[in-house]
Amino acid sequence: MAILGYDVLGVDVDEGKVRQLNDGAVPFFEPGLPEKLAEAQASGRIRFTTDFDAAAEHGDVHFICVGTPQKRDSYAADLRFVDSAVREIASRIHGEALIVGKSTVPVGTAADLAELADEVSPADARIEVAWNPEFLREGYAVDDTLHPDRLVFGVASERAEKLLRQVFSPIVDEGVPVLVTDIPTAELVKVAANSFLATKISYINAMAEVCEATGADVDSLSAALGLDDRIGSRFLKPGLGFGGGCLPKDIRAFRARAEELGVGDAVAFLAEVDAINIRRRTRTVDLIRELAGGDLSGVHVAALGAAFKPNSDDVRDAPALDVARLLYLEGARVTVYDPEANENAHRLYPDLDYAESLDAAVAEADVVALLTEWDEFREASPASLEEAGAHPRMVDARDVLDQQAYVAAGWEFRALGRPAPQSVDDAARVPAL
Ligand code: UDX
Repeated sequence: MAILGYDVLGVDVDEGKVRQLNDGAVPFFEPGLPEKLAEAQASGRIRFTTDFDAAAEHGDVHFICVGTPQKRDSYAADLRFVDSAVREIASRIHGEALIVGKSTVPVGTAADLAELADEVSPADARIEVAWNPEFLREGYAVDDTLHPDRLVFGVASERAEKLLRQVFSPIVDEGVPVLVTDIPTAELVKVAANSFLATKISYINAMAEVCEATGADVDSLSAALGLDDRIGSRFLKPGLGFGGGCLPKDIRAFRARAEELGVGDAVAFLAEVDAINIRRRTRTVDLIRELAGGDLSGVHVAALGAAFKPNSDDVRDAPALDVARLLYLEGARVTVYDPEANENAHRLYPDLDYAESLDAAVAEADVVALLTEWDEFREASPASLEEAGAHPRMVDARDVLDQQAYVAAGWEFRALGRPAPQSVDDAARVPAL
């Protein structure tokens, strides 16, 4: 928003983060974001604070961007942070203001928040609530924000629509489609989109299970399906499946909300989507155990990757770390290496060993497992891994390696959803795509 030309005051309850941001440091790994923060700070149009009075005073439009994690004791979304942000800001507003929700919430939340704002705000406040769901992907946050596929404005009045069109005008003027909807639809777009994406991934991973039972190859299957324009190849990449701070908890929260609304049956299939996704993790452990000779106890496994996907240091619900944890529970000696996420992973699972480099991770590894498809792992050669001390056994849980090259170099090689190559010729018949 500062880069688009607005005066922005960022508010957080975490003093440490506020300090870091004011010092020009982004408190997580996101390509391109430090440069954008520097650009915004150089313009003098952005500051960060913990002071809600200052925020209420500053803004005509207040974006609510806090997290909605899964509740500890159920699948539902925990709305404490959203409630608290709205309460803090609304109770200090005088005059007209628009509160715009960006957080991913169960449908119906905005209506509750409008009531809350009404209840806690001073008598002279005229607050309206609108919803503008956030579709950015981690790793592409800057580009997805400045050049989104679409903008969705969930509004209850022409005034709110006008204001949002004005706020986003530099983006709208570039021809980005704008959909103006009622508020419940805007709330639903986000969970519906994420549910669809999760379903697409689990669909191809369900096909991987069938491939495993038949000797068919899911990578070729995915390529053939993806060439049908009606299906499309994006989010049809088989492998260890989805994780992160969004897809897993969003499909669960959607189920919980649908049940509350009496339409649980309509999204009951999301339970299967979740189950298929989780089964990929145990299947990966099975392949590693198989290459280790049937028993994992005392076996040294190099776990390449901890983040839920490359170009991120986010380990929330990360399939890679879950596999590492399952291996550890079976008695394996697991050494994790992630180019960016080691620190976050260590905080979550201090019992695992962490290596500072790829070479250090694979040294003496009985089995190497590629769990997050960072370029560094895709580009490593079988020879370089062996030189670093790895035994020639690879499990490619993201279906990204050139299996022919590994088999030609004498490695035992297993991938999810693909037949085990018996020979170099055999590996060549199943080309990496
Ligand atoms: C997602 C949505 O894409 C985004 O629109 C929304 O705003 C937030 O949630 P993100 O969580 O950053 O974004 O990750 P995404 O790129 O969607 O990947 C999610 C997971 O799916 C990752 O673990 C990834 O490895 C996995 N994935 C993705 C697959 O397993 N196969 C695929 O084909 C694509």
